[in-house]
Amino acid sequence: MTEKNNDKIPIYICMGSSCFSKGARILVEIINNTIEQYQLQDKVDFRGKRCFDRCADGPNIQIGDQIYNRVNPENIKSIILNYFSIHESANTD
Ligand code: FES
Repeated sequence: MTEKNNDKIPIYICMGSSCFSKGARILVEIINNTIEQYQLQDKVDFRGKRCFDRCADGPNIQIGDQIYNRVNPENIKSIILNYFSIHESANTD
């Protein structure tokens, strides 16, 4: 296992038309909010990417080497928090 202390972990969201039509835009907002809320700005590099060629399984995101399919507003935050081993605080927003 390799550790990259100075490198940011990439978070990519597919901005292809299929994923976009399935709600990628709202996921961008939620991901940005989560990055801010948990002060991950120094740890991650969040950007959009073109089609992942997995359109039927979208919306798709990638964190590090892992691709997550069928991401939605209900599960995106916990996907990110789980990846970074962050325990969600009792925040009800
Ligand atoms: S549009 Fe997202 S995988 Fe193709």
